[in-house]
Amino acid sequence: MNSPYNGFMKFTRLIGTKDILPGESYQWIALQNRLREASAHFGYREIITPMIEMTHLFIHSVGDVTDIVSKEMYHFRDKGDREITLKPEGTSSVVRAYLENHLTDWTKPVKLYYLDRYFRYEKPQKGRYREFHQYGAECFGSESPAVDTEMIQLAFHLLQCMGMKELVLQLNSIGCPACRPRYREILVSFLTAHELALCPECRNRTDKNPLRVLDCKKETCQKVLAEAPAIVEYLCSDCAVHFLTLQKYLQALSLPFQCNPRLVRGFDYYNRTVFEISSTSLGSQSALLGGGRYDYLVEMLGGPSTPAVGFAMGLERAMMIIQETNSILFHEPSTKIWIANFGGETLHESLTVADSLRRVDVNTEVDLEGKGIKKSLEIALKKEIPYLLIIGEDEIKSQQYTLKDLQLKSQQTMGLSDIIHTVKARYASL
Ligand code: HAM
Repeated sequence: MNSPYNGFMKFTRLIGTKDILPGESYQWIALQNRLREASAHFGYREIITPMIEMTHLFIHSVGDVTDIVSKEMYHFRDKGDREITLKPEGTSSVVRAYLENHLTDWTKPVKLYYLDRYFRYEKPQKGRYREFHQYGAECFGSESPAVDTEMIQLAFHLLQCMGMKELVLQLNSIGCPACRPRYREILVSFLTAHELALCPECRNRTDKNPLRVLDCKKETCQKVLAEAPAIVEYLCSDCAVHFLTLQKYLQALSLPFQCNPRLVRGFDYYNRTVFEISSTSLGSQSALLGGGRYDYLVEMLGGPSTPAVGFAMGLERAMMIIQETNSILFHEPSTKIWIANFGGETLHESLTVADSLRRVDVNTEVDLEGKGIKKSLEIALKKEIPYLLIIGEDEIKSQQYTLKDLQLKSQQTMGLSDIIHTVKARYASL
């Protein structure tokens, strides 16, 4: 009996995964429902896509030189010899579903949100898991910076619905195929000139994916990158106007932001706007949500030219803040009545009475082993159930039951309708 698991534990959960137990699971569902309601405030509707997709989808959309695709995907070959991947992110699947189900014909803008699980083979740490949950929103069909603005407004609305404060919005524009190649050239020559001061990974990335170098968190690279040319200075006029208009809209809505010329995000599909919202209470994994515009992805995956923008929020990180700051109080429905009985006929009657109580929304549990009053009292007190209802043979005959109020330490004998009235009167105000 030395093991913390009493010797029963042969299997443990995989590293980077989490069991969500009763109590917390209620918080999860309540949070997700709150996010659903808040999404409807903006006209977003839920889309549910499969947990698995063809591996090629992510190679084409996220990009094969990104960390997610090159290092972090859970992929396997199925019995039909197909290359399958557990979704590492939601945007690619939503775009695939948008095309496959002809949502291209829907009135634009098409506004979709999702709540789902994702898988990335990352090094687990606080706020970073291998299986995690995201809320995400995607809007298809408009290039207007007003859509980027409303997307950021939605993000803040959700965070405020969760009672969150101390949020920082970082914003950048990474241009478009017209202006990015020139910036890329300038950046590559800057990085090449400072090659010796960069970490091996950044040196490697200089040719393959130079923009991602800007994102390196290593102190030595950060020093070099502080001097790097900023992409906003190389935007074409259309991208510059788009970015300035977005900033003007955000200011008009009093949504505070910081422009961060080094914010690039780890996906190849972005163009123009990229943004992240972080919370100072999260520590090193401070990004709570991130997103941006991806005007070319629908076309890249075989659809018509369709500008789009979206973001996703990590729910483990959101939940961490909610639990640490008590920013939402969750009231999980609990059992109100425990029915004590003595087995046989009295157990049978208990099941019938419980049925009547549940039909009028009084949460009721029955001693299914008919172990009598003492045992039931013990259980009810342990489970903090406020009422004990006693059903013996006399009670069956008279249809009058003893209701013990375990909090007020009083008891009354009454019929079923009075019991319902008494219990409901107490809990109506909660
Ligand atoms: P992302 O930045 O990779 O973006 O993820 C969004 C959020 O998911 C992060 O800010 C973080 O809170 C959470 N997250 C990411 N990885 C993990 C992890 N390993 N453990 C726990 N939480 C994590 C995307 O996924 C894009 N698809 C967002 C998007 C939607 N862009 C446009 N539309």
